Amino acid sequence: MKSKVIVGIAVLAALTASLPRRSWAAHDGASLYKSKCAGCHGASGEGKPKVKAPALKGTALTTDQLAQQITKGAASSKAPHNKGLSGVQEEQAKAIAEFIKTLK
Ligand code: HEC
Repeated sequence: MKSKVIVGIAVLAALTASLPRRSWAAHDGASLYKSKCAGCHGASGEGKPKVKAPALKGTALTTDQLAQQITKGAASSKAPHNKGLSGVQEEQAKAIAEFIKTLK
């Protein structure tokens, strides 16, 4: 009897531990985008011709490619993407990339 209760509690604890983390990641992607990207790419990913930043909503790039663009950049890209953006960890880049894929 007792062990069943303990298993039940363990399962519940595991479930509740995994749930908030997921929604935290989604939320984090949105707020990170706002603070790190929106200044150039627009609040809804509409792009800003003034700073020559292209629209990101509806991008054909995959989440992996987006995350790569954020953390590593490409030598052939123009600033600021000729290298990785400073102060963005890989996990954060993934969260931002997932958020960008939700922009329509
Ligand atoms: C200082 C302004 C600036 C900031 C901040 C910035 N970008 Fe950019 N971004 C640009 C410019 C300018 C380009 C075009 C670069 C080029 O054509 O080589 C670009 C291009 C891109 C591209 C390529 C789009 C395509 O269709 O080829 C992606 C993806 C991108 N940015 C994502 C991001 C993300 C995600 C962030 C935030 C983590 C971010 N950028 C922050 C200015 C910015």
